[in-house]
Amino acid sequence: MNLERRTKKSSKRSVLVTGGTGYIGSHTVVALIAAGYNPIIADNLSNSKASVLKRIEKITGKLPLFYKIDLRNTTALNKIFQKNSITSVIHFAGFKAVGESVAEPLKYYENNIQSAISLCKVMDRHKVKKIIFSSSASVYGEASANPIKESSATATTNPYAHTKLIIEEILKSVYVADPEWRIALLRYFNPVGAHESGLMGEDPQGIPNNLMPYISQVAVGRHKKVNIFGNDYPTVDGTGVRDYIHVMDLAEGHVAALKKIDTTIFSVPRVINLGTGKGRSVMEILRAFEKASGKVISYRITKRRPGDIAVCYADTKLAKKILGWKTKRNLADMCNDAWRWQSQNPKGY
Ligand code: NAD
Ligand code: UFG
Repeated sequence: MNLERRTKKSSKRSVLVTGGTGYIGSHTVVALIAAGYNPIIADNLSNSKASVLKRIEKITGKLPLFYKIDLRNTTALNKIFQKNSITSVIHFAGFKAVGESVAEPLKYYENNIQSAISLCKVMDRHKVKKIIFSSSASVYGEASANPIKESSATATTNPYAHTKLIIEEILKSVYVADPEWRIALLRYFNPVGAHESGLMGEDPQGIPNNLMPYISQVAVGRHKKVNIFGNDYPTVDGTGVRDYIHVMDLAEGHVAALKKIDTTIFSVPRVINLGTGKGRSVMEILRAFEKASGKVISYRITKRRPGDIAVCYADTKLAKKILGWKTKRNLADMCNDAWRWQSQNPKGY
C-alpha cells in the first residue's frame, strides 16, 4: 500500500471505485466528487497510471484516497473496508481487450471472475450490499434487431464478453441468496472522448484496439493511417456502426444509478443499457474527428476484423425511465474533447 494517499476523513457517502484509475473509472471519480460523494479508489495499476490522481485533484480540488491492490487479494481488500465506512461499490476493475481474451482466455476468466467473487465476499462480510457493475453491450453479440433492448437475447462470442455475462449471473445469484442486495448491471456501448479540461482521457497501452483512440493517435502523428476494418457491411456507407457515448455522460450515468440504488426500483438486479441510441459509422467518426482536429486523417480499407458485427446501438428508454438519465453531449463534443486531451498529452499520462 505504498501508494496509499490520505485525505481528511470525510462525512460524505464513501463509494469504493474499483478500477478507478482506469479510463471510465477516473472520469466517474470526477463526476462522483462533483455530485458530493467521497470516492475511494482500489486499482492494481495493471492498465492505468497513478499520475491520473493528480489530474483528478487538479480538476476537482480533491485528491481521492487510493489503494494499490489487486482485487483478488481478499485480505488487502478487507482492510480497505475495515478502515473506511464504505456504503456502496462501483466495480470497473477488469481486463477488457476482446482480442487478447481470445488469445489468453484463462487470464480473463481468472482476473475478471475472481476479482468479482473476492469483492462480493468482502462486501458481504462488511454488510455493504449496493453494487454497480460495468457490463458491456458485447454480451448481446450480433443482435437480431437494433436498437438493442435489455430484453434482447444475449449471445456472447468471446471470453471477455463471457466474463461479463458470468459476473452478471453471479450477482443475480447473490441477490437470490440475499434480497437485501441492490444491484445495477450497466451495459455500456462504446465509451469515447475525454474530460472537457483536456487533463484526463483514454490512454491505451501499446497500439490501440479501439477506433477513437486509434484515430486520435493518427491525428497526433503516432501512426500513419487508420485501418478501416471492412466497407462491405450492410450499413449507410459499408463501415461498421456503433453507439459512441461520451465518457462523461457515461460517468454521470453511474452517479444517476448510485442515487437510485437506494430506492425500491433496484429491489431486483436491473440490467440497463448506457448509450445514446444513435448509431454512427466508422467513416462518420473519422470525418467528425477531422473537423474537430483540423487534420486530414489518412485511412485505408482493410479486411473485416474477425468477430466484428455490422451494427450495434442501444435502446435507451429504460435508462431514461429508471435512472432519469440521458446523454447530453453530441458527437462533436466527443471528438473535440478527445482531441483536446490527445493534443495536450500526445503520449498520454
Ligand atoms: P481500463 O482498463 O482503463 O480500467 C480498468 C482498470 O481496472 C484499470 O485501471 C486496471 O488497472 C484495473 N484492474 C484490472 N484488473 C484488476 C485487478 N485484478 N485488481 C485491481 N485493479 C484491476 O478500462 P475501462 O475502459 O475504464 O473499462 C472499465 C470497465 O468497463 C471494465 O470492466 C470494462 O470491461 C468495462 N467496459 C469498457 C468498455 C470500453 O469500451 N472501454 C465497454 C464496455 C464495458
Ligand atoms: N474499427 C476500425 N479500425 C480500428 C478499430 C476499429 O475500423 O482500428 C471499427 C470496428 O471494425 C468497428 C468500430 O470501428 O466497426 C468500433 O470498433 P471498436 O474496437 O472501437 O469497438 P467495438 O464495438 O468493437 O468494441 C467496444 C469495446 C468492447 C465493448 C464494445 C461494446 O472494445 O470491449 O465496444 O461496448 F464490449
